[in-house]
Amino acid sequence: MINILFVCLGNICRSPIAEGVFRDLVEREGLSKKIKCDSAGTASYHIGSLPDRRMRQIAWENDIELNHKSRKLAGDDFYNFDYIVAMDEANFQDIRNQSYRSSGFYFPEDKLFLFREFDPELIKPDDTAQLSVPDPYYEDIAVFDEVYRIVVRCGAQFLEYLVEKNQLKK
Ligand code: 4NP
Repeated sequence: MINILFVCLGNICRSPIAEGVFRDLVEREGLSKKIKCDSAGTASYHIGSLPDRRMRQIAWENDIELNHKSRKLAGDDFYNFDYIVAMDEANFQDIRNQSYRSSGFYFPEDKLFLFREFDPELIKPDDTAQLSVPDPYYEDIAVFDEVYRIVVRCGAQFLEYLVEKNQLKK
């Protein structure tokens, strides 16, 4: 079993939609017995809350239900997950720092990703400013829709990467 953790700041917008979209994709590809996923936040503001109403709305319009309750990234996560996928650069650095503080080692570099490293539509792949999924929380509904479209694209590429790397299909 491969365990994947998607991480953002509040765990009510970006990482829950990444989790929901990715789980749906894994199910449709018949890989549910081989890949599991979850999500968490680096901040504790929204612990116990359902995803943001606007994010659930966009998910629902695309036949995805989001039931996740926000939780904070914890020390055990660095043992329980094989891959951790950050939504933006700040999340990425926070994950690295927290892994070092809680376990005395950095989470392996080849298992910690920025989700947009898998975005096939990045115009300039070497522009790190573009490697973040935009934080929609204080933005218009259009940004929530953009987040949805980004996680669909990145999820598909990330799954391809996992299948190849772990020889999941013949
Ligand atoms: P998320 O979005 O990290 O994608 O869940 C946010 C949610 C809440 C806040 C910021 C970002 N906040 O400041 O409360």
